[in-house]
Amino acid sequence: MPTSCTSHVLVTGGSGFIGSHTVLELINQGHKVVVVDNLSNSCEEPLRRIEKLAGLNEESLPFHNVDLANIDDLRAVFKQYNFSSVIHFAALKAVGESVRVPLAYYRNNITGTLNLMDLMIEFGVKDIVFSSSATVYKSDPDGRPFREDSELGCTSPYGRTKLYMESIIRDVVGAESGWNAIMLRYFNPTGAHESGTMGEDPCQIPNNLMPYVSQVAIGKLDNVHVFGNDYNTRDGTGVRDYIHVMDLAEAHVIALERLTGNHGYEVFNLGSGAGQSVLEMIDAMSIACGHKIPYVVDPRRSGDIDTIVCDPKKANEVLGFKVSRDLTKMCTDLWRWQVANPEGYNQ
Ligand code: NAD
Ligand code: UD1
Repeated sequence: MPTSCTSHVLVTGGSGFIGSHTVLELINQGHKVVVVDNLSNSCEEPLRRIEKLAGLNEESLPFHNVDLANIDDLRAVFKQYNFSSVIHFAALKAVGESVRVPLAYYRNNITGTLNLMDLMIEFGVKDIVFSSSATVYKSDPDGRPFREDSELGCTSPYGRTKLYMESIIRDVVGAESGWNAIMLRYFNPTGAHESGTMGEDPCQIPNNLMPYVSQVAIGKLDNVHVFGNDYNTRDGTGVRDYIHVMDLAEAHVIALERLTGNHGYEVFNLGSGAGQSVLEMIDAMSIACGHKIPYVVDPRRSGDIDTIVCDPKKANEVLGFKVSRDLTKMCTDLWRWQVANPEGYNQ
């Protein structure tokens, strides 16, 4: 028997960037949440910030410093609560690193997911929302928007772990009765909570564009390195589909609530459907911070392509989800977070 009779949502990776914003939104929408994270790419401070923003007592948000790779530790958490559903964010996510240490990525992401699914079966928890990624789609040289039924195919070990994790979940839904699973394929998350107290806190020099631009804007890094200006796009730089992290957080709550409708296995893109170039992002961030952000043009980054945007129609029509925060909002919120937390959560 669980120690707690109240029904909780288990959020794995809940102290990370997207997980923490989603936990806040879940609490604000009346859900009871338990966070499991091994803090390999985060710290506990976002949980303290969530408590403040949600008006909870300090250290009242249930948190377990557990590695999903350790099934016994994870089982102890399942024993303690009555979980209604799971949102599974916990994963390693750096594409370049996954090429250098592929086994670490397979071990962490796949083993963690297998253990989680085993315990969900053992404890009769049958509803899951999974953090997938645009990276699962096969590159389209023509830059057409990806639909959920577009061809799949990844070029990095990280991407393959996401595809395998989707497949593992799909196969469990097929094999077990009463399961519901929603795969959310995010495009390019950015922005921060509008309070300026929560945001992305990269442990090292950022790989992704927007945290890098933001650190140049505040003077921690010298120049943005624009990876190629000879792409087949309107200004020659890469075009991507950026989405505000709070839009993503809201989409998770919508997805979680849809699980109770017994729709089985479903996949949704999460993006705006519009693309912005690297130079447009630098310009937008320059406006947000009130000064020009210096950049230099470097050669293309290996593996990058011209344009990656989503077709958001299925999420619009089936989930009723549409992004509500534009590029200006992404940049002003990101800048507010950066100014208030120049060292991230380690103040
Ligand atoms: P993040 O690194 O900030 O959050 C992931 C969290 O999972 C971290 O707090 C980390 O400590 C934890 N974690 C990792 N392995 C774990 C394990 N074995 N056991 C317990 N905890 C573990 O990353 P994020 O940007 O918030 O991404 C969340 C999810 O979204 C990831 O699955 C990622 O692949 C996916 N995703 C992210 C992006 C993006 O651009 N940020 C895009 C598409 C998909
Ligand atoms: C990256 C990941 C992808 C993941 C996505 C969302 C890679 C190769 N791909 O996508 O798997 O799903 O994040 O997390 O890492 N750029 C610069 N200078 C920089 C950084 C980036 O010019 O310092 C350019 C890139 O060439 C690209 C755009 O900015 O055109 C966005 O890059 P990035 O933020 O890394 O995201 P993606 O490459 O789209």
